[in-house]
Amino acid sequence: MKVGVIGAGTMGQGIAKAFAQIDGYTVALCDIKQEWAEGGKDKIVKGYAKLVEKGKLTQEEVDKITGSITPGLKEDICADCDLIVEAAFEDMTVKQTTFKELDAICKADCIFASNTSSLSITEIGKGVNRPVVGMHFFNPADRMKLIEVIAGVNTPADIVEKIKKISEEIGKTPVQVNEAAGFVVNRILIPMINEAAFIKMEGVSDIEGIDSAMKLGANHPMGPLELGDYVGLDICLAIMDVLYKETGDSKYRACPLIRKMVRGGNLGCKTGKGFYVYNADRTKTAVDKL
Ligand code: CAA
Repeated sequence: MKVGVIGAGTMGQGIAKAFAQIDGYTVALCDIKQEWAEGGKDKIVKGYAKLVEKGKLTQEEVDKITGSITPGLKEDICADCDLIVEAAFEDMTVKQTTFKELDAICKADCIFASNTSSLSITEIGKGVNRPVVGMHFFNPADRMKLIEVIAGVNTPADIVEKIKKISEEIGKTPVQVNEAAGFVVNRILIPMINEAAFIKMEGVSDIEGIDSAMKLGANHPMGPLELGDYVGLDICLAIMDVLYKETGDSKYRACPLIRKMVRGGNLGCKTGKGFYVYNADRTKTAVDKL
């Protein structure tokens, strides 16, 4: 099966790896510029090189995986895809435009899936001449086991079933979710990160204290502020804003500290600074003043 992954950023790279690691899957990794698609593939190759250095994978295994990922433009390499997983910028217009363009490029039986983290699948599919389904991966997408499979109002049941089957084929566990802002995981997880930012803002504890408390007290693999940096504070903010806008419920009010950090470009790991500063030697230090 050939999968077109649209967007070669963090999620796109992880999704590309999730498919390419499985025999029988090839990936077209696309972005709006050829060099951005190639940049995404370069990062994938570098990540695997570290695993070879650590003895986790052989060079032969890595060559097989990376050899099945072709970077490029969707108009050049997606015509024969069997499945599209869109992981473009989390913006309704961008996603709608992307699917309308793909409609003209892809063969008729290609399934269209979106990796949106909170937007309406029904609205994403508006004006597209074939159904759109949600196929929501979790970061790091090549390692996390869950895929939320989301049916929009116009998504036929057989498409949902096909996506569940593909999810299982690539070693994931699908959970079917009805359309709702944030679906299941982000409706719970992102308000938790948001609450941790409020706790920091109110001075209840410091960054490391909050993270340690949740790691040791709730057995979470990462603390909520560390996780916010990992997911990207811009993504967390966008999801909080969708939850608030869709429900009108003040419990989803975004923490002003996160909004301020996003405005200042402190987005977390991807910009090298969020609640922590990420050092070149892969260590991190909590930021004193936010
Ligand atoms: N093959 C073989 N070995 C591999 C491998 C691969 N493909 N990838 C990694 N490994 C190895 C590593 O080299 C490492 O080996 P060592 O222990 O010998 O160094 C080992 O596997 C473990 O790797 P890590 O140390 O990187 O992993 P970890 O155990 O520390 O876990 C993590 C990292 C998975 C990120 C974990 O911290 C975690 O689960 N964090 C929470 C993530 C989370 O909540 N994600 C969801 C975010 S929300 C979201 O994504 C949705 C959205 O829409 C915003």
